Amino acid sequence: MADTTPRAMIEIAGLQKSFGATQVLTGINLSVPSGHTCVILGGSGSGKTVLMKHMIGLLKPDAGGVVIDGEDLVPMGAEDLERVRRKFGMVFQAAALFDSLDIYENVAFPLREHTKLPEEGIRKRVRAKLDLMGLPRSVENKVPADLSGGMRKRVGLARAIVMDPKIVLYDEPTTGLDPISTDYVDEMILAAQRELGITSVVISHDISSAFNIADQIAFLSKGVILEEGPPERVRESRNPVVQHFLQTWFGKNE
Ligand SMILES: Nc1ncnc2c1ncn2[C@@H]1O[C@H](COP(=O)(O)OP(=O)(O)OP(=O)(O)O)[C@@H](O)[C@H]1O
Ligand SMILES: [Mg+2]
Repeated sequence: MADTTPRAMIEIAGLQKSFGATQVLTGINLSVPSGHTCVILGGSGSGKTVLMKHMIGLLKPDAGGVVIDGEDLVPMGAEDLERVRRKFGMVFQAAALFDSLDIYENVAFPLREHTKLPEEGIRKRVRAKLDLMGLPRSVENKVPADLSGGMRKRVGLARAIVMDPKIVLYDEPTTGLDPISTDYVDEMILAAQRELGITSVVISHDISSAFNIADQIAFLSKGVILEEGPPERVRESRNPVVQHFLQTWFGKNE
């Protein structure tokens, strides 16, 4: 029988990381199939950002492997890491836009840095991504301070996908947004996945958002994954820590 499971874009095995005497990740195994959206849920300080930094080779593990699109990052030198990083887009916790550049130039920035595209080609790509994020032409000449928080996040997203990455990592993309803006950003994450086939890893402690967008949820606590799988499975988890965390949200909303 043909194997129809998409191959893993991200494959993490036995990942361990300590800072000084503090062990932050104590043996992470996680596989994210190509084109899937994996949400990493967990409380503050559980190791979510540290895990994400390993995926892009910003941190080296003490033990274990991080295989991206078939290549292990752990033994790689700077040059190879740089090449693999081009497969990634990053959306940071704060939108991290350049305050003094207008929206057009913010989104164009990676293209100017990494390609020799003529202006016409840059304009085409910038506009395609702004369109995909539901941002009107009228924002192009505004500076970030003129936009709402939700719009700024969508600009950050447009910039993250302007190089057509295979993988996008989102660190808390909806923190600090009201529920309507949160829904909108969630929609955009799904649009990027659907239209561009992007593999997404989203760090969140927003449970409703997580269940809206995830194909797969990994629940992290104190450096271990307590539960992992499709949202329904995580929802039904018998692990008391996972249940307690979910109750804080589902308990209020059911
Ligand atoms: N470079 C570092 N040096 C020392 N300790 C670190 C470093 N980076 C992270 N830590 C520690 O690792 C633990 C996990 O941090 P991490 O940033 O991954 O948490 P998190 O799950 O992303 O939390 P939050 O939801 O608050 O962003 C914390 O105790 C943090 O202090
Ligand atoms: Mg974090």
